[in-house]
Amino acid sequence: MVKPPFAHMAVYGALAIGGASYGTWALVNSTVGYPYQLWFIDMMDSTAVKAYEQPMRTLPEGVVSRTSYRGNIDRALPDGTVNPAADALTNPLTLDDAAIKKGEWGYQTYCAPCHASTALGVGPVTDNSNGKKRFPIPGVALVGATGALKLRSDGYVYATIRNGGALMPAYSWALSDQEIWSIIGYLRTLPESTYVPPVPTTGAGEG
Ligand code: HEC
Repeated sequence: MVKPPFAHMAVYGALAIGGASYGTWALVNSTVGYPYQLWFIDMMDSTAVKAYEQPMRTLPEGVVSRTSYRGNIDRALPDGTVNPAADALTNPLTLDDAAIKKGEWGYQTYCAPCHASTALGVGPVTDNSNGKKRFPIPGVALVGATGALKLRSDGYVYATIRNGGALMPAYSWALSDQEIWSIIGYLRTLPESTYVPPVPTTGAGEG
């Protein structure tokens, strides 16, 4: 008489029991889901709130600081003239030594490559001498005899740094509002950097 293959039967038996258990678990998981899941944690059935399951919770008051938020005020209006809303902004900082030092750091880090460490115009990036062509236009002087700062209000310069100019990149990604204003504070300590507002062409006493 042939001896039954006990070893094989044991293996197949164990596989059958295991398979049935697995199947039961899989069924439970796909139908009942959490909290009966032990190891079938997937993205489909988790404790996370699902889309549209509950209304979005509003953020508690004060979580998003908007004290220095000024929107995307561009320095110019679509017609190219100075944006009065940008022009009217004033430096909110107390320009003590610490603020000026911070501004100097910001200027030398982000501005000097194009406007030179002296702010007189030609920095390493805009130096097109000896046939080098690095930046499409020559460096623009911010201070000194032909400097732009004499013609530009703090607010206009703020908007230029924050949102960029015709060719100048925006720096809102790198500099906080505080840093931008401290850079402006620093620039105003350099020679020939004081803003001289344009004389109004019409007004009292005329005509
Ligand atoms: C990649 C080169 C580059 C960098 C870096 C750069 N600028 Fe400029 N900047 C320019 C160019 C080009 C102009 C002139 C054209 C324009 O206004 O876009 C300019 C113009 C200006 C003006 C004059 C705007 C006017 O209309 O009179 C000011 C002020 C100024 N930049 C300040 C800064 C400050 C402050 C920084 C650092 C945060 C800075 N720039 C960084 C290229 C640069």
